[in-house]
Amino acid sequence: MLKGRSLIEPTNFTLEEQDEIFNLADEIIKAPEKFADACKGKLLATLFYEPSTRTRFSFEAAMLRLGGQIIGFSEPNSSSTAKGESIADTIRTVACYADIAVMRHPKEGAPQIAAQYSDIPVINAGDGGHQHPTQTLTDLLTIRTIKGTLNNLTIGCCGDLKFGRTVHSLIKALSAYENNKFILISPEELKVPDYIRKEILEKKNIEFKQVKTMEEAMKDIDVLYMTRVQRERFFNEEDYIRLKDSFILDSKKMSLAKDDMAVLHPLPRVNEIAYEVDSDKRAYYFPQAKFGMYVRMALILKLLGIY
Ligand code: CP
Repeated sequence: MLKGRSLIEPTNFTLEEQDEIFNLADEIIKAPEKFADACKGKLLATLFYEPSTRTRFSFEAAMLRLGGQIIGFSEPNSSSTAKGESIADTIRTVACYADIAVMRHPKEGAPQIAAQYSDIPVINAGDGGHQHPTQTLTDLLTIRTIKGTLNNLTIGCCGDLKFGRTVHSLIKALSAYENNKFILISPEELKVPDYIRKEILEKKNIEFKQVKTMEEAMKDIDVLYMTRVQRERFFNEEDYIRLKDSFILDSKKMSLAKDDMAVLHPLPRVNEIAYEVDSDKRAYYFPQAKFGMYVRMALILKLLGIY
């Protein structure tokens, strides 16, 4: 039963509950008109303390396409945060007006605190370098649609695996399925945090290897998950400049990959995928952004208890 629940971590829901969301998203994709009034009279609040294009717009588009309405801010200085209001007080106030809230925050754990003080479901839309569970639902729905399964896959994660919250969430989520393997491609300084390696991969005996070049990994990968180097999380600009172009996926590297490898990227892209790759049939990052809207429509419907 998902009604009234919050989504803070990618593993908050069981695999069966996740399947319910994906199955509903599939239904919406097939016949969106059937859902056009499903959220009539309901209000979604978007509380974005950090910039966003896909997550905020896809949540807002999702609610509007379900016949509901939206309130919120994309610039925290336009809210009473600028006067020193706490997360707890903000969410308790928002809960007086809205039926469901989505929060992005630069501080890890902020949406968790909000959920503790909230009477309405709170959805984590990305907290610092920690987790981004609705991006993960997006990624899983995309993979499930392309590959027909979420098991027995070799997933290559490439780029900033230290600060990239989408990668942390994806590894956590895919580790719950059967027989998935990971190839982690990053510079030494941007390897996955210890808690991901030790507490998830090693603890669950998941097969993984850490490599420093794309070339040595490409031929084995079923799903290549590219990420940008997260400039906003670096302590100094010099390190960012040194590392930002560590990996660039181009046509030459794509020629080393399987014919049915799928390239995903949570976006935004900076330099890490050459534009020439966009026309490759294996490039799925824009369809992935669209799946994000459908999966968020399904999530809203489930958390509000409408479906
Ligand atoms: N993927 C993602 O979170 O994109 P935005 O930062 O644009 O929301």
